[in-house]
Amino acid sequence: MLDILISENIQGAVVDALQSRFKIVFQPDLWKDPSLLAEKAKSCRALIVRNQTPVTAALIDAAQELLVIGRAGVGLDNVDYKHAELAGIVVSYTPDQNAISVAEIAIGMMISLARYIPAADADTKKGNWNRQKYVGTELYGKTLGIVGAGKIGYLTARRAIAFGMKVLAYDPFLSQDNILLSELQAELVELDDLLARADIVSCHLPATPQTVGILNRDRFFQMKPGALFINTSRGKVVVEAGLADALKAGIVGGAALDVREKEPPPIGELETMPNVILLPHIAAFTREAQDRVTAAICEDVARVLDGRPAVNAVKRAIPARGSMPLVTS
Ligand code: MLT
Repeated sequence: MLDILISENIQGAVVDALQSRFKIVFQPDLWKDPSLLAEKAKSCRALIVRNQTPVTAALIDAAQELLVIGRAGVGLDNVDYKHAELAGIVVSYTPDQNAISVAEIAIGMMISLARYIPAADADTKKGNWNRQKYVGTELYGKTLGIVGAGKIGYLTARRAIAFGMKVLAYDPFLSQDNILLSELQAELVELDDLLARADIVSCHLPATPQTVGILNRDRFFQMKPGALFINTSRGKVVVEAGLADALKAGIVGGAALDVREKEPPPIGELETMPNVILLPHIAAFTREAQDRVTAAICEDVARVLDGRPAVNAVKRAIPARGSMPLVTS
């Protein structure tokens, strides 16, 4: 039997160290072939994925030996974790480990958009020296609207405050007396209100049935004219055609997207717009964040295989299937 199947590109010294204790199969492109993945998953005790492997109910049902799914990242939209829970399988993820990196890139995108950095760079490299074309705006004194005030939203807002920004937050799971909102001196508002008042909107929502498509054409047309939009969370929360319409109408002044409705995306209108920055879902891709993510997920998978509870379990910390070694610590 195979101990650990890794179906995406997750490597490093921590993975290497596991090789001495567990039989590991590393197939970084396996996520592209769901039927081969299901075949391989039949005999593995642990499956480690990023965001591209669809860990569906069918895959989970096929994987009768599976004890733990390790999701090297925070988003759980590619893992049917409810089905895994019912099947007695532990799902471990990395709720905090890449949050700083994502917050830092959100701030980077704000400055890049506000000061036209990518457009001015591309123009200057063509031999131009267009100083007047790139008169930007300061972040200082502006209002940041955080859509989703979880850890990454909070860390982004904290950094924005250091630039002298004011913070509005929309989060249906928080109340105004939340301690972190108090620390940020953030005003908790409804989404419509946030969109109407923010100079920069930064999205930090998970993809759930409630949030998919929430930022649609109507919502973008509610934004303050010229406001900037940033998404480092999940692409599916944005209706890209609606965003493109609002950009063309000049309602949205610029947008920076690290995540897309479809990944990788087809070339479309957004790719042609100079006031749009597009990145290939790299917000969490720093050496520090990846070291933390890999270490945490390997540690948790090893713990479960050793019969110990997972530290970062989504829900169930110990599998309810298979014959497990006795827990000794
Ligand atoms: C995350 O969910 O942690 C990041 O978006 C990176 C990823 O999906 O792997």
